[in-house]
Amino acid sequence: MKTNEIDILPVSNSVGAEILGINLADTLSDGDYQKIRKALCQWGVLFFKDQDITPDQHLRFGQRFGEPHVSKTISKVSGYPLVGEVRKEPDQRRNIGGNWHTDHSFSETPPLGSILVARELPDNGGDTLFANMSSAFQKLSSGMRKTLAGMSAVHAKKNALQSKNLSADRQVSDDELQSMGQAVREQFIHPVIAKHPETGREILYVNPTYTVRFDGWTEEESKPLLNFLYDQAISPENTCRFQWDEGSVVFWDNRTVWHYAVNDYHGKRRVLHRVSVKGSKVSA
Ligand code: SIN
Repeated sequence: MKTNEIDILPVSNSVGAEILGINLADTLSDGDYQKIRKALCQWGVLFFKDQDITPDQHLRFGQRFGEPHVSKTISKVSGYPLVGEVRKEPDQRRNIGGNWHTDHSFSETPPLGSILVARELPDNGGDTLFANMSSAFQKLSSGMRKTLAGMSAVHAKKNALQSKNLSADRQVSDDELQSMGQAVREQFIHPVIAKHPETGREILYVNPTYTVRFDGWTEEESKPLLNFLYDQAISPENTCRFQWDEGSVVFWDNRTVWHYAVNDYHGKRRVLHRVSVKGSKVSA
């Protein structure tokens, strides 16, 4: 198995790089795997263009990085219980992931990352945004960093289901939430400043979709500080935007970046396949 001449082309100074010179339909050599893993940790999200991969090849690529993480709520591709489907139909108004978030931060071990493959795209719109939460941390004053260092925050799944503009197809009422059982009541407390398990970089680990409040604080007390942190995180200098095309594959490091699926293509279909990789406990 040959190691390719991979080129890494950053798309901004803080987040995102295009990877050139690799065909994801091939089995990855150890050398290529290591280059990609290193680039993922460095740039937070990798963009591969002009790829043509089957669901089996998609899964095999993901499995090189770890065991599959299977979301309980997302639909699956027919015949592929480990491959999720991110779909919005022309008659749907809400999309999956239409707000800044870290996938599954309400669970004890959120996924390491996810690999999305474009399957059907609107002729325009439906881009995905990424924000680097390690550089968001770096922008904070030393006083703010010290304050946050000892803090934890509560992340809850129901926060997203009940929000006005988030991932479910519509807003879920209190009664419906009751009937949805234990799965939607999943929540977990994580440190506000986490350490990336591979690079050791510090990461601001809160997000507008799932973080409810700081541990030991009320929601009302938490809101102003959370909103300040969110504003820092989404400054243009800290983000990048990816425009999907036929053949696009995107791999993000869910420990480092937030992502946001732009919902600006009502009346059109958008379908992507998603393979996620199991992660580890979030540690300070
Ligand atoms: C997601 O949040 O996983 C969906 C991202 C996208 O559709 O671009």
